[in-house]
Amino acid sequence: MRVAKKIDEVRSFVRAARMRGAQVGFVPTMGALHQGHLALIRACVAQNDVSVVSIFVNPTQFGPREDFNSYPRPFEQDVALCEKEGVDLVFAPSAGEMYSPDHATYVEVEGLTAGLCGQFRPGHFRGVTTVVSKLFNIVEPDTAYFGEKDYQQLIVIKRMVADLNFPVRIVPIPTVREADGLAVSSRNLYLSARERRAAPALYRALCEGAKAAAQGASGFEVEKITRQALEKEPLFKLQYVQAVHPETLQPREDQGVPMVIAAAAYLGSTRLIDNIKVEGRS
Ligand code: PAF
Repeated sequence: MRVAKKIDEVRSFVRAARMRGAQVGFVPTMGALHQGHLALIRACVAQNDVSVVSIFVNPTQFGPREDFNSYPRPFEQDVALCEKEGVDLVFAPSAGEMYSPDHATYVEVEGLTAGLCGQFRPGHFRGVTTVVSKLFNIVEPDTAYFGEKDYQQLIVIKRMVADLNFPVRIVPIPTVREADGLAVSSRNLYLSARERRAAPALYRALCEGAKAAAQGASGFEVEKITRQALEKEPLFKLQYVQAVHPETLQPREDQGVPMVIAAAAYLGSTRLIDNIKVEGRS
């Protein structure tokens, strides 16, 4: 397995693979790899001839009061995991390699980024779409893998790929959960023992909302049921819970399924997000 720090190195590696007729798969990450990332990486390795993983904590997607500086960076461990999974190339650029001091171009998907997490993290999705565009232009993958845990990010990336004609197929991978239902996330590392015990309440609340949706409840009702379920765990401070259409991300309000119920909530200073999709009535 190669570890490349420079864009040119990635370009020549991928070009050589293409000359051999290889299909190139790509998993963009910010490192601190966990089971959720490993599910993306395993799908990528299984479905492609050559697999590239990027590890880059992207400064442009963090707000001024967010955790960019404290974000976990266990680089050696991440590289060892990639090697074990059969990844061919890890791209781990510096911030300077990705963004020149005079960088002035950003990619922004309108509309889809306005609600849900976008309301509370101004500029976040602009940072994500900008860095993912740059990574797609550097790696030029045939296929790229994104987790459904970051549901809004997945939909925004799909829109960007369609709108900007990136020749990349986006493959969504289901959320990986701990045995108690908590969605795996790099930020779970921040939780104290008490917070960790409280954390599965977020998914439990979403499941209660999903049950009501499947029985015919409207978006408004589903949001209320989910909110009330989460209030049973006093450690949680809810930021939002919203029932939206799975593709347009428009609020479902007085409409029913299909819907994605998405929520963000704080446990202490740790912000957790999760979602559940309800396709139809049961
Ligand atoms: O989901 C993430 O880890 C990041 O948002 C991504 C897609 C790697 C872009 O920095």
